Amino acid sequence: MARKLKATYSPLTVSAFPDGDIYLKYNTNLKGKTLVLVQSFQPNPEHSLSVVLFAGKNAKDLGAKKVILVAPYLAYMRQDARFNPGEAVSSKIVGELLSEAVDKVYTFDPHIHRYKSLSDIFSIPTKYLTANWLIADYIKKHFKDLVIVGPDWESSQWAKRIADKIGVPSTVCKKKRITSWKVRVKIVNPILMKGKNVVIVDDIISTGHTIVEAAKEIRKHHPKSISAICVHGLFVGEAMKKLKKTGVSKVISTNCIEHKTNKIDVTEMLAEELKK
Ligand code: R5P
Repeated sequence: MARKLKATYSPLTVSAFPDGDIYLKYNTNLKGKTLVLVQSFQPNPEHSLSVVLFAGKNAKDLGAKKVILVAPYLAYMRQDARFNPGEAVSSKIVGELLSEAVDKVYTFDPHIHRYKSLSDIFSIPTKYLTANWLIADYIKKHFKDLVIVGPDWESSQWAKRIADKIGVPSTVCKKKRITSWKVRVKIVNPILMKGKNVVIVDDIISTGHTIVEAAKEIRKHHPKSISAICVHGLFVGEAMKKLKKTGVSKVISTNCIEHKTNKIDVTEMLAEELKK
């Protein structure tokens, strides 16, 4: 991105004092400059959040004109309600903390299903970007004779929109989440999948169980192949192994989070947005 923006790239020094306190240092002069902090909040969202908070506040203290956070994946957004008494609504808390530390946030396909927009969470300007058209282009180039499946109603904003854009049939399944590690998925509006290349599209693959359960249902319809594409590939624990074991032959993600499945590049789009 720095190259694309013809900007100075300066890695931040982040380490820890012997007692575990964060140590953070900029290695470039920030006075009067616009600073773009890039953080994907994986694989350690807690540490990443602390780094962003320290980096944002420190940059302002050092005289930066503007501090922009580019969070291709914005962690903590999935806890967007108090599902059980006493729980923290993490998305709100993180939104408040980041609003204090930086001046603007850019992110891709944030998981904010129970909010109308990012301004319900942040008190600073935000830019909500979507990788939908990049994913649609990728699917168009790499898949033939296909149908698209969204594993739950929330995924229709990716699966259905992408399918409509490409002009292929799609359906969205019904999902019931039992625990973080257990879901049930049912195909409620079946489409013809027999002999087709089925592409499951979702925003996040975390433990992989959503895709695994969807794939098990899809298999009953005798498809030619099953693939999965996501915006944010977290691939927690044995997710990749489980997906392969269930017969998901191709797993593809954007580079919002760095992973070996990255095939779709979002940096060009980000750079263009930052130039505006
Ligand atoms: C949920 O609403 C999301 O869109 C994803 O389906 C979910 O985060 C995937 O999680 P997992 O891979 O752990 O099933």
